Amino acid sequence: MPKEFKSLLEYKKSKKDWHYNPSVKSKDCKYVGRILNFDFSKIKGKFEKKKEEISTELYKEDIKNGKLIPTQLHPESKAASKLDHIKHGYNEHNSKYTQWIDNRDKLPKEFDKLKNICGLDYVTIACFKQNPGNTNPWHFDAYGAVKKKGNLNNADSKKIKRYLLFLEDWDWGHIIQVGNNVLSQWKAGDIYTWSYGMYHLSANCGISPKWTCQITGLPSKKALHLNKKKKFILKK
Ligand SMILES: [Fe+2]
Repeated sequence: MPKEFKSLLEYKKSKKDWHYNPSVKSKDCKYVGRILNFDFSKIKGKFEKKKEEISTELYKEDIKNGKLIPTQLHPESKAASKLDHIKHGYNEHNSKYTQWIDNRDKLPKEFDKLKNICGLDYVTIACFKQNPGNTNPWHFDAYGAVKKKGNLNNADSKKIKRYLLFLEDWDWGHIIQVGNNVLSQWKAGDIYTWSYGMYHLSANCGISPKWTCQITGLPSKKALHLNKKKKFILKK
């Protein structure tokens, strides 16, 4: 990264790791399959109450004497990503979400079964709730928790997969975009994944909260996206 921070997106474009052209009809998102027997309606009431987080909020440790610390603006720093969101017009009013992460928060025990079925090593799981009127803006994931858990080198880090699992059927205004692909009309239990470093976003311009779950880890031979089957059953 240059010393003087301009834009993470411009930096990524300069790396040419994707075409970065909205008009290209590329296939950037892969359908993994569907878990048939995870009934989220029974679990929904079990989440501990939590304060909403904000996609544009810089962490205190990112700032010194009112300024961002330039050394932290490496391409995978959260601060770099957040500065892009602010630059693109997002703020504390339109980028809120609630997230429960297994290494930080209490998650209902039913989520352990999801962790186990995925065939991912050093696996982490998180639940994400987005209320109407909010966007998790155009970004890519750095998977810091998995890298740390597995003490992974650069080459292995790029093999990390995130599975996006939809906890409820699609509702109007619920939008996920991965690269140039916009997803809609998913069913509860559907899982999608994409390549390391791929830009994506999540928006709720609808009338009901959007609930998703992300399961992240280093794929083993049993990883679901390598399975020819597209229907999966959780063990009792
Ligand atoms: Fe993401």
